[in-house]
Amino acid sequence: MRVVCLPRELREASTQAARAGLRVGLVPTMGFLHAGHLALVKEARARADVVVMSVFVNPLQFGPAEDFAAYPRDLERDRGLAEASGVDVLWVPTVEAMYPDGPAVTVSPGPVGSILEGAVRPGHFAGVLTVVLKLFAAAAPAVAVFGRKDAQQAALVRFMIRDFNLPVELIVAPTVRDADGLALSSRNVHLDVAGRRRALALPRALAGGVEVFRSGERRAGSIVAAAAAVLATEAGLTSDYVACVNPDTFLPSDAATDTTTLAVAARVGATRLIDNVVLGAGLDADVRIGD
Ligand code: PAF
Repeated sequence: MRVVCLPRELREASTQAARAGLRVGLVPTMGFLHAGHLALVKEARARADVVVMSVFVNPLQFGPAEDFAAYPRDLERDRGLAEASGVDVLWVPTVEAMYPDGPAVTVSPGPVGSILEGAVRPGHFAGVLTVVLKLFAAAAPAVAVFGRKDAQQAALVRFMIRDFNLPVELIVAPTVRDADGLALSSRNVHLDVAGRRRALALPRALAGGVEVFRSGERRAGSIVAAAAAVLATEAGLTSDYVACVNPDTFLPSDAATDTTTLAVAARVGATRLIDNVVLGAGLDADVRIGD
């Protein structure tokens, strides 16, 4: 595995790959790798000849009061896991290398960028799309793999690829869950035993919404209310949002269908967690560690 730091070095590696007729697959991450990231590598490996993983905690997508400084980091561990999972090129840029001049220009995410996650984290998606565009520019991937847990992010990346005619195929891989149902996230490391127990209310809330949907309910309001009730009664959690969204537009929908995404965000102590499920598929469609 080659480790590169500068955007120019990655650009050279991707140009070499293109000259040799090889397809590049990109797995963008913020590091502190877990089995969810490694599943993205597997998806990339199946579709590309050269797998590039980026590890970069992007300051542009964190608000001033958010956890940029506290975001977990362990580059040596990441390096070992990336190599063992078959990454060919690990790209680890510094903030200075990534944003030598600012940046002066950022990507505007449009209306979907300011609802749900975007409403709670103003500027977050402008930061995400800006860095993703820079990752695409340097890695020139034929295919890029994102996780479904960040469903709104994946939808916005899809819109950016479409609107800017970027020659990148987007793959959105299933959420990976621990055996107890909690979606894997680098931030889970901040949960203590009691916090982790409370955090399990998120997948249970989603399962509650799915159950109501399966019983025949199609009013989004009732499905959302059932999920929010699980968060409140089982763990005393107040959500940042619980919403049913249309999979194509990622806008809230009043009537649920099989393809509607039920999305939730809640704070467990100082740790903010997000999760989602496709109502018709249920949590069984996700990958469960130990299965
Ligand atoms: O999902 C993430 O880890 C980040 O938002 C991403 C896509 C790597 C951009 O910083």
